[in-house]
Amino acid sequence: MGLIERYRDRLPVGDDTPVVSLGEGSTPLLPAPRLSRRLGVELWLKWEGANPTGSYKDRGMTLAVSKALEAGAQALVCASTGNTAASAAAYGARAGLPVAVLHPAGAVASGKLAQTRALGARVLEVRGSFDAALAAARELASRGTHALVNSLNPHRLEGQKTAVFEIVEALGGEPGAVYLPYGGGGNTTAYERGLAELGLGNVRLVAAQAADRPGTAASAIRIAEPAHAARVSETRAVIATVDDAQILEAWRALARDEGIFCEPASAAGLAALMAGSGSSGRVVCTLTGHGLKDPAYAERHAPDARVVEPDPDAIAEALA
Ligand code: F0G
Repeated sequence: MGLIERYRDRLPVGDDTPVVSLGEGSTPLLPAPRLSRRLGVELWLKWEGANPTGSYKDRGMTLAVSKALEAGAQALVCASTGNTAASAAAYGARAGLPVAVLHPAGAVASGKLAQTRALGARVLEVRGSFDAALAAARELASRGTHALVNSLNPHRLEGQKTAVFEIVEALGGEPGAVYLPYGGGGNTTAYERGLAELGLGNVRLVAAQAADRPGTAASAIRIAEPAHAARVSETRAVIATVDDAQILEAWRALARDEGIFCEPASAAGLAALMAGSGSSGRVVCTLTGHGLKDPAYAERHAPDARVVEPDPDAIAEALA
């Protein structure tokens, strides 16, 4: 069951809304015993890489594409650092709508690009930053030919708020704090909405941004000018800033201590927690995207494979 069916009564859909779903949502909330011990908190990991296209974007996209179809859209457009594009491409294909994707040239991780191309989207590499690509996508959408499915589309945030519902249901109560990465700020805004709709005023929200916004190795959140900055400032969210070395350390810990291979941007929330941003008790870190999205990052930061003869002695020696 997709999240529109799971949360139909809390989403802006009617009986006639055509539901475009790939079975998104209902992702695992995993305990993290080793990291909990190390950090002195009860840590839970909301594993959004388990969504159909490997990122949390699917939560917003099922709703945005369903509503676009209901409204009679003929085509979709988005600007993206990669995950929105892959999700739009998948849900567009599912809906039978053509998808145009505007990427910052040369700045998208290879897994995302391969995925988006395979799903049949028209991919244009814009000479410029993500911010320039987003401005172009908005202008194209304003001409009326394409529906914009970036998080400026209000249906995206409605879908994304459901992650909070799932967290609270899985815990059987509210967490003390939720940490998540902060790129454009759509997800932070969506989490605030989810918490507010549940009447949870006391949950801390920590949004972790890259210290080097325009140049971080976490390419998903390589965004100089967050489109939702003004809205984020109206939420309860505390903004934490983490550098690439802290993101790498958190990314490694997730993989080696807890068995979760996420993409680097996803580790930003944990990096903020590890930096000691003042939470205790029950803490949730949202891991937004799968590690296979960015194989080059793993190749850069994980030990090389070794070549050996198919001989048990040689293998034992190599392992010693
Ligand atoms: N984590 C991942 C894996 C992302 O792909 C993004 C954003 C974020 C975190 C930040 O979320 O923008 O709501 O604050 N990716 C967008 C994209 C920009 O185009 O895929 P945010």
